[in-house]
Amino acid sequence: MNRRQCDAGDLELGGGLEVLLAAMLDPASPGDEVEVSTASPEVARELPTWARRAGHDTVDQRTAGSRTLIVIRRGTSSRVVAPPLAAAGEPARLRPDGFNTRDWRLNGPPAAGADPNSGFVPLGSLAEAGTFGFAWQLNDRDELWSSDLAQLVEGASAAQWDASRDIPWHEARGLPGFLEQAVCQVVTFIAQNEYAAYYVPARFQHAVNPEFVEVLLWLASHVHDEARHIEVFTKRAVLNGAQAYALASAQRSLETLLQETDFTASALLLNVLGEGSFIDLLQFVERHAPDPATAAAARLAHRDELRHVRFGITHVRQALQKNPDLLSRLVAAAEHRAARLLDLTGMSPLIVEALTVMAAGSLAPPRLSKAAAAVRGLMKETAANRITRLQQAGFDAPTARYVSELHTPNLM
Ligand SMILES: [Fe+2]
Ligand SMILES: [Fe+2]
Repeated sequence: MNRRQCDAGDLELGGGLEVLLAAMLDPASPGDEVEVSTASPEVARELPTWARRAGHDTVDQRTAGSRTLIVIRRGTSSRVVAPPLAAAGEPARLRPDGFNTRDWRLNGPPAAGADPNSGFVPLGSLAEAGTFGFAWQLNDRDELWSSDLAQLVEGASAAQWDASRDIPWHEARGLPGFLEQAVCQVVTFIAQNEYAAYYVPARFQHAVNPEFVEVLLWLASHVHDEARHIEVFTKRAVLNGAQAYALASAQRSLETLLQETDFTASALLLNVLGEGSFIDLLQFVERHAPDPATAAAARLAHRDELRHVRFGITHVRQALQKNPDLLSRLVAAAEHRAARLLDLTGMSPLIVEALTVMAAGSLAPPRLSKAAAAVRGLMKETAANRITRLQQAGFDAPTARYVSELHTPNLM
């Protein structure tokens, strides 16, 4: 049994004394005592009642000159339904440029399985018992994780941009009508696809167990990126008053992306295949845009897409390494999607034509011929890069070719 002295000064109950007493009694062991010295007659009168309500005993009370000494013995009750907090451990690592997300887990990656009924328990904290369960749906680390998640989250935070101010909008005025029309159709098609890239990760956000907090940060950054892509390409579309079609073929293709409910299959279909193909398209738009605003929008979106694709490749590769049986499930997901899109036999001619006119910058036959070749080159390059990305994601060469051929001609 320990006894500690507590000089209450002129503190009253309700005026800070209860805070001082909690700071002394909470960490003490049952049976330990605190001798409170007070000059306040109110405290002397009320403290035994306060102690009883808090689950402690008053074991002695006497006067000493102008003060009252009250001895409180700590009871066994605890104000929190949880074991005692651990003693302070090693501090987290700080790098010269700050506190990197890679460094906040002091005990390595999270455990493979998370409790589906856990609540919001911030990293490093101790959960109090007795709350309602949340019934999370995604509780298996390896179905969500990627070893570079923290680094990707850092990259996303560092690469934020502003679709209102970071684009030279004033330099996109004055294109000839046919060219403005072509650009408007291209960016409308891109914006249409960006909606799918927004909704797919957003649909998983509420299902992920919060123990995998890096996954939450990642999905939020992904959704935020796509919101900005929708914003920037919509702004380019409406900038000069032109109007373009939101194509039914794109709509049909994107709808099938939203049907996929498996996280890793979604990562394959959206991040590796869809956004992978979009990387090539955005690069093409940046290279061939007739105005600096369209080029800047494509360049900044492309930079974000590189992160999204990298997540997909690493996640799928690592999920396949952990569970080789997953391969057949992933191939089946690609087959299932393709089966729903059998009648889409190629990219919409409207988009091919808009890309061609945009790249030509003119309706002069020699320029159009060169641009048409560039668009055919883009399609070939996209198909080849898709196979490479699938191999990087852990598919053998024949399966990579097979899955690439199943991919939607809509690109996403
Ligand atoms: Fe995007
Ligand atoms: Fe994306």
